[in-house]
Amino acid sequence: MSGAIHAEGLVKTFGDVRALDGVDIDVPEGSVLGLLGPNGAGKTTAVRVLTTLLQPDSGHAEVAGVNVLTRPNEVRRLIGLSGQFAAVDEYLTGRENLQMVGQLYQLSSRDAKRRAGELLERFNLADAADRTAKTYSGGMRRRLDLAAALVVSPPVMFMDEPTTGLDPRNRQQLWEVIQELVAGGTTLLLTTQYLEEADHLADTIAVVDHGKVIARGTSDELKTQTGGDVVEVVVHDREHIERAEEVLRRLGDGETSLVTHTRKLSVPAAGGAKLLAEVIRELDGRGIEIDDIGLRRPTLDDVFISLTGHAAEEEANGRGRKANEENKGEQQ
Ligand SMILES: Nc1ncnc2c1ncn2[C@@H]1O[C@H](COP(=O)(O)OP(=O)(O)OP(=O)(O)O)[C@@H](O)[C@H]1O
Ligand SMILES: [Mg+2]
Repeated sequence: MSGAIHAEGLVKTFGDVRALDGVDIDVPEGSVLGLLGPNGAGKTTAVRVLTTLLQPDSGHAEVAGVNVLTRPNEVRRLIGLSGQFAAVDEYLTGRENLQMVGQLYQLSSRDAKRRAGELLERFNLADAADRTAKTYSGGMRRRLDLAAALVVSPPVMFMDEPTTGLDPRNRQQLWEVIQELVAGGTTLLLTTQYLEEADHLADTIAVVDHGKVIARGTSDELKTQTGGDVVEVVVHDREHIERAEEVLRRLGDGETSLVTHTRKLSVPAAGGAKLLAEVIRELDGRGIEIDDIGLRRPTLDDVFISLTGHAAEEEANGRGRKANEENKGEQQ
């Protein structure tokens, strides 16, 4: 049986760019899929296809068993969408924006008011509720847009980078709202650039790069693929970087990486704290002074380096090779 969101072989090209290059997606009912990838990976394009806003060149997609390509109007009644860029009416107040959405969904005017009030509280907008949205900060607009997507609770939700631009407190609160939503049975596809966020919210994660899903799994499975935790060392003396790197390479469990200008070295550490202790002993024994050392969880970049051999940033901004060459130049 296919899931609440199901797509096979989605392809979408814009001129020479293959924004989607054969994407398969399956999200079981009541679960959360995190679509994780760097800028330009194809996340928004996938969301737009699945929410009927964009026709793919080829492929097949269904939401709640309804064909997205042939029955878009039906699909629209089953889904909620919060886009990457907040879609609020600048000239209405926050409260009016939400009431309007309620009325579009044919709530009675009493219910629309009640729901707007609840959501304004929930998203910390009560104080600003009666100001026009054009006076709102970026984070406030973002929250209003998300609130608007939740006025009615559709069975299937799409959220494109819901927390980008939110401060830590609002991000935390949104995570709680999302968790409640999912506990109530909603199926959710969310996109993010943060492994930490996918980690926190998603049952399964699909990592996308250049329009392709390059890995799938739970967050733990992905982290294990990268070798688990990472030991990170900041070397005090630039001259010691090479010797320190040699130590990490020998003791660590994978590729070392180096950011020359911050003198920061890191290496996967399947052995966790045990490896950390060994590295400290070894560096100390060789008289290599350090400014900082620690064990951290892998980031999206670590997952990317391990999956593709390059950092997420590099190719996305088209300066990958140049950045590498500069880096090499500095090391010599
Ligand atoms: N309407 C369009 N016209 C031309 N190219 C497009 C269009 N929409 C997307 N693209 C290209 O398709 C690729 C994927 O874009 P998409 O917006 O899906 O990426 P994304 O993963 O959402 O990135 P971000 O994290 O920056 O939001 C990019 O190379 C982008 O430039
Ligand atoms: Mg996007």
